Amino acid sequence: LTKPEPYTPIEWRDGRVRYLDQTHLPNEEIVRETADWENVVSAIKRLAIRGAPLIGIAAAYAVVLAAMTFRQRREKLERAIQVIGNARPTAVNLSSAASRMLSVLPTGGAALPVDVPDLLLVEARRIHEEERHACEAISLHGVSLFSRPIDVLTICNTGPLATGGIGTAFGILHTAWSNGLIRRVYACETRPLLQGARLTIWECMKHGIPATLINDSAAGHLMQTGKVGAVVTGADRIAMNGDVANKIGTYMLAVLCEAHRIPFYTAAPSSSVDVTVRTGENIVIEERSADEITMFQGKPIAPSGTHALAPAFDFTPARFITAIVTERGIHRKPFQFDSREQIAGPGTS
Ligand code: MRU
Repeated sequence: LTKPEPYTPIEWRDGRVRYLDQTHLPNEEIVRETADWENVVSAIKRLAIRGAPLIGIAAAYAVVLAAMTFRQRREKLERAIQVIGNARPTAVNLSSAASRMLSVLPTGGAALPVDVPDLLLVEARRIHEEERHACEAISLHGVSLFSRPIDVLTICNTGPLATGGIGTAFGILHTAWSNGLIRRVYACETRPLLQGARLTIWECMKHGIPATLINDSAAGHLMQTGKVGAVVTGADRIAMNGDVANKIGTYMLAVLCEAHRIPFYTAAPSSSVDVTVRTGENIVIEERSADEITMFQGKPIAPSGTHALAPAFDFTPARFITAIVTERGIHRKPFQFDSREQIAGPGTS
């Protein structure tokens, strides 16, 4: 389906993890390489590697690096897997990839077999491949949501940079645009770390998709003046009832969509569905450093001593969501995700 990407967000090469440092985009394309699992953890924490599916993939490769470091010492490796799985709290892909890697370890005593890094690498590559395929399937299902050319608004970044495949929401936008069903993408800048301005616009340009950057607070005005035909976003975690945690500001967009009768779609792989969480209220929302709000490019933009809050995500109640697209199809209300969604899964509804 998809052409090779013009950039590679993450790959395993010669016993090392190579990744594009997203904190430098769009100004510099800096590729880093590491054999140190702790460097991968810090890259995830500082958002050099980011986006729910991509941090799951990175976590899996980090576990392989940890296994190469600790060799047969089970206790050390298990401790490292725990640290990797906790690098960020909201996207379930990270902790579930870490748990999946843990489950590959053979049971037994304190000493692991020598071939454990090889076993783990097979699983990490599998996780990466599954995410790629999920993106392709999401894109194909999602395109059926559009029947005439419209302009679509999105938030944050959901393309190859966030997923390791063609993207979730971005994959749908890309496919719909290729089929003449989307004319333009409006990208919310996504304060405070500007994933929309820095990354989504960059990816739209790389793929030739016409895109317009707006400041986050312009979304309501655009909807009110008839410029937005639909909103499509990604997800960091989907609860059993269809509540969706995603980048801060997503909830506001969904409420605005309801007020303006504009469809609001979520796109995510089933690896973002958490069947241990009933509703969005149970999803842990990451709090980032207040400096991300009070500083800009190293300079203060608020008086010294300002008390600031920096939630990185919010959750959108299912009632505001028109449909959720996973690799398994288009899900409509009432949403009901269960453990089968992550394995064989229920059919589309
Ligand atoms: O903090 P980030 O940049 O990792 O947040 C990412 C998002 O909120 C994305 O929309 C989400 O992970 C979906 S990625 C396909």
